[in-house]
Amino acid sequence: MNQASNVGRTTMGREAFVQSVQKALGDGRLIVVSNREPCVHEKTSHGIRVTRPASGMVTGIEPIMRAAGGVWVAHGSGSADRLVVDAHDRVGVPEDNPAFVLRRVWLSRAEESKYYYGLANRSIWPLCHIAYARPEFSHDDWSTYKAVNRRFAEAVLDECRDKPAVVFVQDYHLALLPRMLREARPDLTIAQFWHIPWPNREAFRIFPWGEELLDGLLGNDLLGFHIQYHCMNFLSTIDRAIEARVDYERFRVFRGGRPTTIRAFPISVDFDQIGADSSLPLVDAHMSEFVSILGTTAELQKIFIGADRLDYTKGIPERFRAFDMLLRKHSELRGRVVLLQLGVPSRTHLTSYRDLNDELDDIVDDINWRHQSEDWQPIRFLREHHGYHAVLAAYRLALVALVTSLHDGMNLVAKEFVSTRTDGDGVLLLSEYTGASRELSGAVLVNPFDVEGMADSMYEALSLSEEERRERMSRMREQVGRNDSFRWGRKIFEEIARLKREPVTVA
Ligand code: F6P
Repeated sequence: MNQASNVGRTTMGREAFVQSVQKALGDGRLIVVSNREPCVHEKTSHGIRVTRPASGMVTGIEPIMRAAGGVWVAHGSGSADRLVVDAHDRVGVPEDNPAFVLRRVWLSRAEESKYYYGLANRSIWPLCHIAYARPEFSHDDWSTYKAVNRRFAEAVLDECRDKPAVVFVQDYHLALLPRMLREARPDLTIAQFWHIPWPNREAFRIFPWGEELLDGLLGNDLLGFHIQYHCMNFLSTIDRAIEARVDYERFRVFRGGRPTTIRAFPISVDFDQIGADSSLPLVDAHMSEFVSILGTTAELQKIFIGADRLDYTKGIPERFRAFDMLLRKHSELRGRVVLLQLGVPSRTHLTSYRDLNDELDDIVDDINWRHQSEDWQPIRFLREHHGYHAVLAAYRLALVALVTSLHDGMNLVAKEFVSTRTDGDGVLLLSEYTGASRELSGAVLVNPFDVEGMADSMYEALSLSEEERRERMSRMREQVGRNDSFRWGRKIFEEIARLKREPVTVA
């Protein structure tokens, strides 16, 4: 597709999305609410720095908020966040030419520790991912989770100002919020997107407050998951755990008379914007920086790249071990391949995340020690927050991008990588346990639990002819280009508009 038709498609996609939002809103306003904020203000020795967090949720939602406008309510977590808000805790985003308003909710350390690190990430996260990390449950975390959901509800209701609104809630941190809003304002339209997998009902049974959590979610008019399989899991969980009528024909649940519609909406990225940003001079500069860090170029050595939040669900130790196995099985590759791993530290207050970091250090040390030569080191592990343009640069340098999650709702790294490859080259090695694997038919699929199999797939990726690489990449670019973030948003808001037209049915 040439540049001109690209621009045409982007504009059309964005406009169609904005129209769908306007239709769904009528004379109401749009309020998005999430735990993670779309931009963080941090104090540094040179003043205030604004960063965009490494979050698939932010990657997916931010472009649609920029296009649709409205208010985004989120936890203000940055050290300089309070310095930039007005008297109502609001700040425009982006600050130089605001497209939407960010309303910050403040949490104490104790609240953050019990609600975010505790219930959300020590209980629900492992419960839903089933990546062999045992969920932990604490009554204290649960009561703080409830209290914090209440705090978000107050902020949202304040933003609604007794006017009609569509409230679009994000993720597993705010499962109780929809019911709280519904009780306070029965007239609101409430939708939620659950960005992580929903487990099967046997796995969910152990959650001690299952009934309350499910009841909270059934305060929504619409509840979205990435894939149909998670919708099915949710319906069968409801069937077993709570008094409600499940309509499997129409994917709806009736509890207390008002239906909640369950639908799959595979989230995506702003394909055209990422493609355009990838050729900025700033990205070229980052590419040169990586080249000098690696001491090599894409011409001299074949570059594998990984870019992840450092989370045990991402399969990073497995990826490193497979790379090690690749070098052991194919000694001719020594000195000819390199793995550049960008890792953003995440949730490091939790032991499981600190353990992961230690494990990664040990594995990288061991692999490098065993294979390296005077002028070659197989793995470069850069553990820090990398800005948006630096990540794009890494994707562009890669011959092979590695997405090896043990379980992932969607995984937007895979779609971002594909979006950057306007050159039509590059291979995506993708875990079959990501939502993205259901869409990206040009990827080389792997089972990250099978380390030797993954090493063989790495070899296969290296051995693909240029023609085959291009054919696969072109298929994936077509898939992501067609199903971009605006289409994702449009599908959700069309469904919201449809639900608003339907009379509220009592089962
Ligand atoms: O994948 C679920 C999710 O909440 C995403 O929405 C987000 O990308 C990621 O986890 C990051 O989590 P956190 O907000 O805890 O950094």
